[in-house]
Amino acid sequence: MEKHYAVIGHPIEHSLSPEMHKAGYVALGLDAEYQRFDVEPSHLAEAVEGLCALGFSGWNVTLPHKENIISLLDTLTPQAKRAGAVNTVKIQAGQRIGHNTDGDGFVCAVEGELKGFKGKKAVLLGAGGAAKGIALALAEQGMQLHILNRTPEKAERLVQAIQREGGTATAGVFAPGVWLGDVDLLVQTTSVGLHGERFPFSVQGISEQALVVDIIFNPRETAFLQDAKQQGCRTLNGLGMLLHQGALAWEFWLGGQAPVEEMRQALQKQLSQRLSTDGKKEARNGRSKG
Ligand SMILES: NC(=O)c1ccc[n+]([C@@H]2O[C@H](COP(=O)([O-])OP(=O)(O)OC[C@H]3O[C@@H](n4cnc5c(N)ncnc54)[C@H](OP(=O)(O)O)[C@@H]3O)[C@@H](O)[C@H]2O)c1
Repeated sequence: MEKHYAVIGHPIEHSLSPEMHKAGYVALGLDAEYQRFDVEPSHLAEAVEGLCALGFSGWNVTLPHKENIISLLDTLTPQAKRAGAVNTVKIQAGQRIGHNTDGDGFVCAVEGELKGFKGKKAVLLGAGGAAKGIALALAEQGMQLHILNRTPEKAERLVQAIQREGGTATAGVFAPGVWLGDVDLLVQTTSVGLHGERFPFSVQGISEQALVVDIIFNPRETAFLQDAKQQGCRTLNGLGMLLHQGALAWEFWLGGQAPVEEMRQALQKQLSQRLSTDGKKEARNGRSKG
């Protein structure tokens, strides 16, 4: 029997998840379908009822519903409780189970490059929703965290959440500092760079041993990552996090191992097409302005 999955969010037209999951179904010959639904915040409860009534086996949840959906579910996994947010729902024996794969997806994306987490130092720039999932997952791996955010109170709150879970974390000023000299993993989690903006400060002087990640994947290389590369650091963009959160959601729903390579290729293909379309639009706009 065909299984049905989806992603809900608002807006949702730019989601790369449908093609990534569908490529996985094709690779394993599964009878499954994955759709995207634009759900306005005021219609979230009806949408959840509708997905259940229509027999969906599960769905992904993206902005702005990751927190508001919690009250509409029956149980949460430890990962969803820890993050205080849900990005994956599974229907099992009529129960709506909320899960979160963002933090562990990030861990999977960097573990090959970082080669061990315990006792190493991570600095996070930003303290929003994505930072929270990442920070709690890295703390669980035994990393020492230093969190810097433009709004300091939010960094302080995240530090307290990590400490409540038994992790080690401090908050600092959103600026370059002594941390540059001994950071093992630097993660840029703010939305700065999504539209080509420069990051507010340079990472000049950073340890060349550091792995630097920007969780933005479009553009492929933000000004922040270019800066880190110029300082001699290894760099990664956010595509690996997107891939692995999707692969972990797949495994939560279907069991077994997700076909990660096929899912990666589907993501890369879509992103290249999107970058080429965006480039043509920009060129057209440039010509019409000029
Ligand atoms: N690769 C992936 O799979 C993945 C997954 C999730 C999100 N993301 C990306 O992660 C980014 C953040 O998403 P989110 O859900 O965490 O958003 P969010 O909850 O709205 O948090 C936004 C963060 O960016 C900071 N920020 C925004 N504008 C800033 C500026 N001009 N200067 C300095 N800091 C600024 C905010 O600081 P304040 O607290 O001071 O406002 C906050 O820390 C987005 O670019 C999103 O596309 C990627």
